[in-house]
Amino acid sequence: MDLNKNRLSQIFTPDYIAEFMVKNINQYYISTNNESNFDEIKILEPCAGEGVFIEYILGEGFTDITAYELDQSLKTHLLESYPNVDLKFENFLGSDSNEKYDIIIGNPPYLGQNYNAKIFQELVKNYSVCKKYFVGNMDLFYFFIHLGIDKLKPGGLLSFITTNYWLTKSNKTGIKLLKPHITKDCFLLQYIDLSNINVFTDAKGQHNCIFILQKKHEKEKQKIVDKLIDIIQIKRINNQFNEKSNKMLFKDILNNEDSPHLLKYRSAITNKDLLPNNGWNLKYPLAVKNHVEKIETNCRFNGSLLYLSDFFVIRNGLILIKDEIFVLKENESLKIVDSDMFIKIDNTFVKLSDHEKQKLKKMFKSKVIEPFSYDKNEISGYLIYLDKNEFKNQDLKKRNEFIEKGYPNLTAYLNHYREELEDILRNANENVNDIYFPRRGSMITQFDIEHKRKLVNLEPYYDKEPKIFFSYISKSNVFGYTKDSYYATSDTYFLWLREGKSEIDYLFLLAYLNSKIVNFLFKAKNIILKRSKTKLEEEIPIPNISLFQSQSQLELINLIRYITSNLTQNIVSIDKTKLNKLQELFPNIYSQILNEKNSRKKIDILLLNLFDLVEEDIDFLLEKYY
Ligand SMILES: C[S@@+](CC[C@H](N)C(=O)[O-])C[C@H]1O[C@@H](n2cnc3c(N)ncnc32)[C@H](O)[C@@H]1O
Repeated sequence: MDLNKNRLSQIFTPDYIAEFMVKNINQYYISTNNESNFDEIKILEPCAGEGVFIEYILGEGFTDITAYELDQSLKTHLLESYPNVDLKFENFLGSDSNEKYDIIIGNPPYLGQNYNAKIFQELVKNYSVCKKYFVGNMDLFYFFIHLGIDKLKPGGLLSFITTNYWLTKSNKTGIKLLKPHITKDCFLLQYIDLSNINVFTDAKGQHNCIFILQKKHEKEKQKIVDKLIDIIQIKRINNQFNEKSNKMLFKDILNNEDSPHLLKYRSAITNKDLLPNNGWNLKYPLAVKNHVEKIETNCRFNGSLLYLSDFFVIRNGLILIKDEIFVLKENESLKIVDSDMFIKIDNTFVKLSDHEKQKLKKMFKSKVIEPFSYDKNEISGYLIYLDKNEFKNQDLKKRNEFIEKGYPNLTAYLNHYREELEDILRNANENVNDIYFPRRGSMITQFDIEHKRKLVNLEPYYDKEPKIFFSYISKSNVFGYTKDSYYATSDTYFLWLREGKSEIDYLFLLAYLNSKIVNFLFKAKNIILKRSKTKLEEEIPIPNISLFQSQSQLELINLIRYITSNLTQNIVSIDKTKLNKLQELFPNIYSQILNEKNSRKKIDILLLNLFDLVEEDIDFLLEKYY
C-alpha cells in the first residue's frame, strides 16, 4: 500500500461481508419501515472504494444510490462500473448534512488521531462536522458516524463495519462526543462481534464489529423510548476460521440458522442502559445478568452496592527517577555475603552499615504475582529507598548534606549518576535537589472522617503491613498478598485501605478476589486490566460480610479464612479437625472438600456455597459465552 493509500486507509471489504451487510440491513429496514417501493429508498455509501457495497445494493434492487470516494484513481473504474449511481469524487466529510438518506452503509476509513494529528488538523480546518466533533484520541471513522447520523432520516438505518474498541471505551479515551451523539439521536439495534475471526487479511489482529444504528423520531427522543439490542457473537472453535467458513457463518446469520459457531441473543443491556460516557458491555446475556445480580445481593450495604473503591485507594507502586540506577541487582551493583551487603561505587565494592542496609528494599516485578501470594525467590533487585520525610525540617541545601552524612555510601553511589538524575528531573519539571528519593508512590493522600486531607507515609505498609496487589496488565483476577516487605514499581497496583476502614477482612476479601466468582465477574463485565484500574475499582462488587449471619455461613467463612491463610503461607494441607463442624453442617460439601486436592478450588467450593451459586451453572455460562 503506498503512502497516499495508507492516508486514505484503503482496506477493501471482502465480498461476503459486504453482501451480508447489505442483505442484513435490508432485512432490518423491511421489518422496521413501511416503505416497500425500493425506488423510493435513498441509499448512501460514504466511502465507496472499488464499489463492493454498491454492487450488492444494486443487486438487492435499490436504485437511488449516492456514493462518495476521495481517491481519484478509482474514478474511471467506478464511473464505468456504476453508471446509474450518483458518484461524487469528493470528501464525504464536506457533504451537506441536510441531504438525508434512508440507509447509510459502508466500511469507513480507520485512522487513529494520535499518530495522524496533522491529517486531523486539516480536516478540522476545512469541515464543520470535523470541527464540531473533534476530540483527541479519536478515530477518523467517528466523523463518518457523526455525519452519517446527521444525514439519516428519522427511522433510517446506518450500518458500518469498524474496529470494535470504541464500544468499551469510556469518556477520557476519545469517545467523549461520539457516544453522547449516538445515544441522543439513535437506537443501537444490532451488534455483531467479529473479534474471534479475521475479516481483513491486511489487518491481522484487528478486532472488528458490525453494527446498526437507527435514527430516532423526535417523539422517540422526547418520550424516551427504549429498544432491545440484538447480539451476535462468533465463537472461536479451534482457530479454524478461514474465508470459506466465514462465508458459511454469515449465510447462517442471514438465514437464522443455528450453528455451533454462533451465539444469537438479545442483550440484557437495552438502549436505555447505554450511558453516553461509559464503556458499553453489550455482550451481556440475560442468564449472565441474573447471576451477576445474585452475586450482588451479597454486596450491598444499606441498599447500595459496595465496590473496591469504597474500601481501598488503589495506587501504582513506586515511580523512580530511573529504575536501572535505583534498583541494585545482585552480583552487578550489589554483593551479598551472608548478612553483609556491598555496593559498587567506582568499581569497588563498599560495605554498607546496618543503618544503610535498612534502606535497601526487596523489589518485585508484577510477573511474580500469584493468586494469594507471590514468588518469593524472584527478587528483581534491591531498591534504594530514602525517605524525604526523615529530613523534612531541614532547608533544602542542608537537607542533602544531612542525607549524605546519614547514608554516605548510598548517596555516593547515587552521586555517581547525579548529572543524569538531575537531567531527568529537570526535563520533568521537578526539583533537581530530589535526586535521592523515589519520585512518586511513597505517600498517599487520605481523608479522615472529617474529610481532612492527610498524607500517609507508605514505607511501613510496604515493609510489614498486610498488602493485596495485582499486575497492571492482566486478563484475569490474580491478586497477590503478603505481610512481608514487598516493594514494586508502577507495573504493580497496591490496595491501600482507606482511612477508617480497618474492619476489612483481608483473608476473606483475598479469597473472594481470587475466586471463580470474581473470575466470572471479570468475564461478565468485560474487565481487562490494561494500565487502568477504573473498571476494577468501580465494577467489582465487594461482599458485605455482615450479611452472612447464620451459623452455617459463619462456619463457611471461617474455613475460607483458614484455607486462605494457609495458602498465603504456601501450606496446602488442612488440619482435619478444622472440618468437624463442616462435616456436621454440610456433609456434602465436606466430602467435596476432602476429595479436592487444589486449595484454590476448595475455597471456590466454600465461596460458591456461601453465595448460594451452583458451580456447574457458572461453568456453563463461562463456556458458552466467553
Ligand atoms: C476502508 S476503505 C473501504 C472502501 C469500501 N467501502 C469497501 O468497503 O471496500 C475506505 C475508503 O474510503 C475512502 N476515503 C477515505 N477518506 C475519505 C473521505 N473523507 N471521503 C470519501 N472517501 C474517503 C478511501 O479512499 C477508501 O477507498
